[in-house]
Amino acid sequence: MNIKNCKIVNLPKIQDPRGNLTFIEGGNHVPFDIKRVYYLYDVPGGAERGGHAHKELSQLIVAMSGSFDVLLDDGAQKIKFHLNRSYNGLYVCPMIWRELDNFSSGSVCMVLASNYYDESDYYRIYNDFIKDLKKK
Ligand code: TYD
Repeated sequence: MNIKNCKIVNLPKIQDPRGNLTFIEGGNHVPFDIKRVYYLYDVPGGAERGGHAHKELSQLIVAMSGSFDVLLDDGAQKIKFHLNRSYNGLYVCPMIWRELDNFSSGSVCMVLASNYYDESDYYRIYNDFIKDLKKK
């Protein structure tokens, strides 16, 4: 998959003096049915997350609070995104290596995923990911 398929999705934002509201609909704002939600929180300063790619999984990454960087790599090109708005999501298609770092204090990273957790869907070794990309 090409990194050009990955992009920032502008999510709906209902502005209200009582507080803003954003919603995400599977199949509408993200091009998949949402099967799983997980979130990273209490991330210590300087920590790095990710460091893997997925064979089939599609995801939307949202900075629910605070900010962090996401580096995407399709084996040919790398793009760094800074996420800091809870009404923006980063869509990540399958076969993209990702690294997350530069988490601000108190940040929360929510991830919507197209499937349940499955360790066999992961590439955790960069060279294995690159080798399989070359086979395709
Ligand atoms: P991992 O996906 O490597 O975390 P990150 O990409 O955010 O750095 O997962 C870390 C651990 O948590 C690993 O042992 C697998 C487990 N895990 C689950 O059990 N279920 C899940 O939905 C996720 C995302 C991870």
